[in-house]
Amino acid sequence: MNTTLIIGAQWGDEGKGKIVDLLCKDFDIVVRYQGGANAGHTIVCNGKKIVLHLIPSGILHKNVKCVIGNGVVIDPLALQTEIEMLKQHEIDVTGRLLISKNAHIILPYHIALDKASEANYSKEESIGTTGRGIGPVYMDKIGRMGIKVLDILNKENLTSKIRKNVIYYNKILKHIYNLEELNVDEIVANSVNACQNILPYISETTYFINEEINAGKKIMLEGAQGALLDVDFGTYPYVTSSNPTSGGACTGSSIPPNQINRIVGITKSYCTRVGNGPFPTEQINEVGAVLSKRGNEFGSTTGRPRRCGWLDLVALKYSIMINGITDIALTKLDVLDEFDEINIATNYIINGKQTSQFSLNDINNSNFDVEYIKMSGWKCSIEGISNYNDLPDKVKEYIEFIENYTKTNVSIISTSPDRNSTIIR
Ligand code: GDP
Ligand code: IMO
Ligand code: MG
Repeated sequence: MNTTLIIGAQWGDEGKGKIVDLLCKDFDIVVRYQGGANAGHTIVCNGKKIVLHLIPSGILHKNVKCVIGNGVVIDPLALQTEIEMLKQHEIDVTGRLLISKNAHIILPYHIALDKASEANYSKEESIGTTGRGIGPVYMDKIGRMGIKVLDILNKENLTSKIRKNVIYYNKILKHIYNLEELNVDEIVANSVNACQNILPYISETTYFINEEINAGKKIMLEGAQGALLDVDFGTYPYVTSSNPTSGGACTGSSIPPNQINRIVGITKSYCTRVGNGPFPTEQINEVGAVLSKRGNEFGSTTGRPRRCGWLDLVALKYSIMINGITDIALTKLDVLDEFDEINIATNYIINGKQTSQFSLNDINNSNFDVEYIKMSGWKCSIEGISNYNDLPDKVKEYIEFIENYTKTNVSIISTSPDRNSTIIR
């Protein structure tokens, strides 16, 4: 077995782009399995920064094929913009980008509904979505009215399906949200046109991936978002509308569970989240401000400031359990360089009782508190270190504490955005 799954263990933005790009040079194929252009995966190499939203983070390696799996939802305009952006970096996707026939397509009415639904809530109640149409497109998929990549192959059929859906969405926009209707002819024509961008990449990826696995090829699965944004296991309803967790990797790619032999959970050395929802270790104070500034914590897709807080081992252990994480990639350790003292959450206190279980009901309880252990900071720069032995002892203690608590090895440590600033143990 040669299949590795790379998964976000927190609320997204853990550094999946960097780690996939780093590890996949020895792989044949990278497969994205869920989410859409709500994701923003950053790769930094030789001073060049590339942010990918839909295309797998293996695309910088010429020998790696990149598959957009059936579980992904594709905005054809976002895809085109990304392909053009890569061209400007002299990266040609031709022959290396394969898009599953079974992936679903995001069209303007999904984006209109996403925005309308968010605007209908008060600021506190809204999910804080990325506004990329993710919720509505997955609603269509599960509701069996979605437009699939497959539909693009028959223009007449595609046109009539899109028309039917625009008419349906107009009723919702007008009668539920009191908004102006979309211009049916214009949306249909533009959408059919935009879908043609996908045409050159349409593939039968289910057989392709499984035949490659049988031929002994090395496959990497790339998650988007993170386990705590999972629609089943995350902080519902403040989640995304797909399954970033390891089960979603199978259904979103066609790779069966018994073919996956390594599941790397990526966690920042602290926590962040964008958008609303529970965040037990959030620090709305100087600590949060330092994490935000040093970590440059602004969303890669929307530019929104990310909320920041201490590392939460209760949440991480939960994430390890539900995903079957075999080893941890610990990123952004350099961001903690300045602190005199570093806190790590080890328990929650609910109505005065200690628990190490991550449970949404408990987090929403008004008598909720977090128990931290305090470690002294290392107070020196570890930026760019790529050899474990070069790390100060206090950094090693921090890493070992995480390993002991989670009973999981930290196999990768990242000390700056750059591809080379990484320790592989
Ligand atoms: P993803 O969505 O999980 O791929 O993560 P993002 O790209 O949205 O956000 C991670 C951010 O942290 C990016 O700007 C990365 O360049 C940056 N980053 C990744 N690893 C490190 C690290 O070890 N140290 C620092 N300082 N930044 C990092
Ligand atoms: P990557 O792959 C961080 C968050 C949004 C919002 C919630 C629902 O870069 O880690 P959606 O648009 O998906 O309906 O929004 O999920 N969210 C992310 N947060 N990183 C992401 O992706 C995210 N994708 C969605 O901020 O809270
Ligand atoms: Mg991101």
